[in-house]
Parts: sequence; structure tokens; C-alpha cells
Amino acid sequence: MHNAAMAAMGLNCRYLAFDVPPDELGPAIAGAKAMRFLGLNLTVPHKLLALPMMDELDETARKWGAVNTVRFEGKNAAGVWVPLLQCPADYSGPIRTRGFNTDAEAIARSLREDLGLQLEGAKVLLLGAGGAGRVAALKLAETGVKELYLFNRTGSKAVELTREIRVKYPKTRVEADYPVSSVDLIINATSVGLKPGDGSPLDHLRFPFEKTGAVYDMIYRPAETPFLVAAKAAGCRVANGIGMLLYQGTAAFERWMEAKAPIEAMARALKRHIYGQKR
Ligand code: ATR
Repeated sequence: MHNAAMAAMGLNCRYLAFDVPPDELGPAIAGAKAMRFLGLNLTVPHKLLALPMMDELDETARKWGAVNTVRFEGKNAAGVWVPLLQCPADYSGPIRTRGFNTDAEAIARSLREDLGLQLEGAKVLLLGAGGAGRVAALKLAETGVKELYLFNRTGSKAVELTREIRVKYPKTRVEADYPVSSVDLIINATSVGLKPGDGSPLDHLRFPFEKTGAVYDMIYRPAETPFLVAAKAAGCRVANGIGMLLYQGTAAFERWMEAKAPIEAMARALKRHIYGQKR
């Protein structure tokens, strides 16, 4: 999606993927800096490892405790730190790293745009309290969800997360259990559904799809997990996590380029790459 965006904007840049062993993350970032990379995306487990390695942390990285986007910055003629893209091609001054997190905002944006949901005042059942589930729960509470029900296979993790949310976002009512009454949205943030033959992350006897209006599965490959297929058959509005992937990417692109991301071109490229779709 980034290469499509750069092509759409006529930028002479490339986005490349590298496998970096966790204990070589530091030298990898230093190497990218030496080679005048504009920025980096990081994925698990580097998102957490990179935190203490950044010269500067954006508020988003500090708040969510993880870095998924790095921007290399140089100093302009006025001595102000700017994205390296804005520095001359022969720039030889100091370069610093700035860490961002674009994941949390992407979750909220995808829920709003892909499901047409108003999150403020909503009631949500969130399945999973791992890395993705934790950020989603905190972001939902920050956004002003009224009631949040957290369910995780390992119950203690959900309980710990409810404690954190009660301290940070006391306006949200949060319970580590299935709700009694209906909700506006169920989110799957577990890895159940990734593998063929996986069952459903939801206990359908305790909470049937009839008690929700919308269902979101963070898994985007397969495009429709058995969980989403069943939710759709029950009449729920459904969306998968491709929007999360897209919006964390558009936000990262905008940090590197300080320009509006060509979102349609990025969405088309992403879907073509992941699903083999022409449009
Ligand atoms: P991610 O970064 O994608 O969130 P993770 O941190 O490993 O990955 O979290 C995986 C989530 O899927 C956890 O909530 C995990 O539950 P546990 O905390 O009990 O491990 C959940 N999960 C994984 N396999 C599961 C299964 N078979 N049934 C229910 N939940 C499962």
C-alpha cells in the first residue's frame, strides 16, 4: 500500500520489508538512519523493544507504550527538526528518530468508517486481552465507550486490564465478563479464526449474535472467519481488520510525508495484495 501511495504521489521512494532478529533491532535502526531512510514500520516484537531506542517519543507512542512507526528527522535551515523528506538530498546534519503509534487511532477509525458506528456512549463486548485487545480496550475507553465487557481465555489478564481502565478512564463502566443485556458491538481481538478449522471466539450459548448490532473481527486473513460468517448470517453488520491495517498505514505515511495519504490507492493496493482483488 505504501508503494502504491508513493507511486500515486510521484515520489521517488520505495517501501521494503526486512526480517530483523530482535537482538539486532538497534543496529538495524542505526543502519536505516545511516542510509537516510525516511522512516520505518515495526511489528511484533519490535514495537515494544523500540520504545527505549527512540531519540524522541510522540505522545501516541508514550500513551500506548509501543512504537509501530519511526520517522527520521533532520534539522532545517531554521534549526527546526523536520521529516527527513523535507531536508535537501545532500543533507549531512544531525538525524534523530521519533517514534509514533498509529495502531490505536486506526482501530477507532476502522470501527467508525467500516461499521458506521458511533463509539461515544456505545456498549462493547471485546474478546481477547492480548497485545491488540489491550490497545483496543484502552482506546475504546479513551474514546468514551459507555460500557465495556472484556472476556479473555486467561481471565486474570482481562481482570488486570479492567483495573487499568478503571484508573485511567473512570467514566467507562468496565467488567471482566460477558454482559447481561445487549451490546452495540462485539470485537474479536483473539487469534481464534486465523487457522483453518478454528472455532468461534464467542460463547454463543452465553451471548448470541441476536444481542448485538455489529461484529468486528480484527483478523483479515481469511477475509471472513467462521465467526464473521455466522454473525452475518444472524443479520449483524460485519467488518474485518483490513481497515485497521489500512488506517495504521495511512497514518504512518502521513507522518513520514507530512502530506495527505492517497487512501483510495492504498486501499486498492492492499486488497489486491491480500485478496487478489482487481478493485
Ligand atoms: P495479539 O498481539 O494479536 O493480540 P497475543 O498478545 O498473543 O496476540 O494475544 C492473543 C489473544 O488471543 C489472547 O487474548 C489469547 O488469550 P490468552 O490471553 O488466554 O492466551 C487469545 N487466544 C489465543 N488462542 C486462543 C484460544 N484457543 N481460545 C481463546 N482465546 C485465545
